Amino acid sequence: MIHVINHPMIQHKLGIMRRKETGSKDFRQLLKEISLLMGYEITRDIPLTDIEIETPICKTVAKEASGRKLAIVPILRAGLGMVDGILDLIPVAKVGHIGLYRDEKTHEPVVYYCKLPDDIQNRLVIVTDPMLATGGSACDAIRMLKDRGCRYIKMMNLVAAPEGLERVSAEHPDVDIYVAAVDERLNDDAYIVPGLGDAGDRYFGTK
Ligand code: PRP
Ligand code: URA
Repeated sequence: MIHVINHPMIQHKLGIMRRKETGSKDFRQLLKEISLLMGYEITRDIPLTDIEIETPICKTVAKEASGRKLAIVPILRAGLGMVDGILDLIPVAKVGHIGLYRDEKTHEPVVYYCKLPDDIQNRLVIVTDPMLATGGSACDAIRMLKDRGCRYIKMMNLVAAPEGLERVSAEHPDVDIYVAAVDERLNDDAYIVPGLGDAGDRYFGTK
């Protein structure tokens, strides 16, 4: 299932991120803010349990989040930029890391790092990456998590290409995908059009 989160504040902030003149400092801040806002939507179906508590006035029944504990797994590098926003919302979440880069010629992902919480298979996993282009990186990351026993996985992207959404949905139909925008297409270099350029380079200022 694909969820497009088109809240006006997310769309406004994304518009600023797309501008080529937006520098790394603002790009980082906006990505963090959007991730927190998208976090509201991605956690909408977290179950609640009634618990008895005592306020300064009287006893009452309050709500407590229950169900599976959470893990956030950014795809390095650019996915790191979405972690702090979600952690602001769910500070107790654990964080794993999957390192993948796209080969510049083949556009195929290459794995260079994987470190996940020991109990990852029991957790609801949110995989983060601002860009879903061909979908190759997302598919490989999800496969790595499934190979570790994960069964409850959600994917969180900022901008997606229709080609990437189709590929991830076909290979992993059980994974819900949350995006802020579905753009037009990929260009010959497998960059998203209009997109926002290379998210990792813009976030870290490496180009
Ligand atoms: C970018 C992006 C995704 C991937 C998307 O990472 O952050 O991980 O490309 O492309 P795909 O859907 O075609 O696989 P990149 O390889 O540029 O690495 P970086 O984040 O380290 O810059
Ligand atoms: N990776 C990016 O950072 N941007 C794109 O448009 C495609 C892949």
